[in-house]
Amino acid sequence: MKNAAEQMQVRANAEEVATAVAACLVADLRAILAGGGIAQVVFPTGMTPVRTYEQLAVVHRQALPWSRVHLCQMDEYLGLSPTDPRKFSLFLQKHLVAPLGCQLRPLRGAESDEEMRVYEQEIIQAGGLDLVLYGVGVNGHLGFNEPGSSFSSPSRRVQLHQSTRDHIDTRAGEAPSEAVTLGLAVLNAARRARVIALGSQKRRAIAAGLLHPPSVDMPLSSLQHHHDLRVFVDVAACPA
Ligand code: GLP
Repeated sequence: MKNAAEQMQVRANAEEVATAVAACLVADLRAILAGGGIAQVVFPTGMTPVRTYEQLAVVHRQALPWSRVHLCQMDEYLGLSPTDPRKFSLFLQKHLVAPLGCQLRPLRGAESDEEMRVYEQEIIQAGGLDLVLYGVGVNGHLGFNEPGSSFSSPSRRVQLHQSTRDHIDTRAGEAPSEAVTLGLAVLNAARRARVIALGSQKRRAIAAGLLHPPSVDMPLSSLQHHHDLRVFVDVAACPA
């Protein structure tokens, strides 16, 4: 098995990363769907994957039976109205469900640990996750598994760290303080793990997460021993 550093693919710029990630996801999904069933996947929100999703919609729309791709929600802010543009469910609808025609397994307003456990069990009973594409928080969080999260953490309600709240675009109002997230246990049990990170703001997390020994202070490092990991970064996010 290659180590995490060897799994890293560095591209010249964000556009080339998007092209590489979109091609990787399509190859992954083609292999998963070849069995005739569904692909149960998690794709992240945030600015980082937007261009990748545009490429899926424009270049790869006809490449796959997207209706057999079932998208699960990685996380969601609490305390926002259902129509608030910051809602991750609306982001996924806009960037993936509407343009591609994949299915969304919605969180249906889950707010408590118990409701998140039910959501996690639904995913497991449907066969577990075939593929997760992770974005990375500036502090190395995955989903909303903030630093300090156990690598076997369950899906649950969480408090957001100040560094995460500082990163949230506050034009639509105050940064939310709470969220729900899939836990690292169910996410990292995915059969394929892919990571995308762009820009110098992510360089410290990529270095600490992939090049240093694993630590709960750096959730990204929980992926170091994943058996099928690929990491895509641009030059700016790549540790020197
Ligand atoms: C949020 C999401 C993460 C995402 C991260 C990075 O915190 N919960 O899943 O990876 O943002 O966002 P961006 O890509 O905008 O830097």
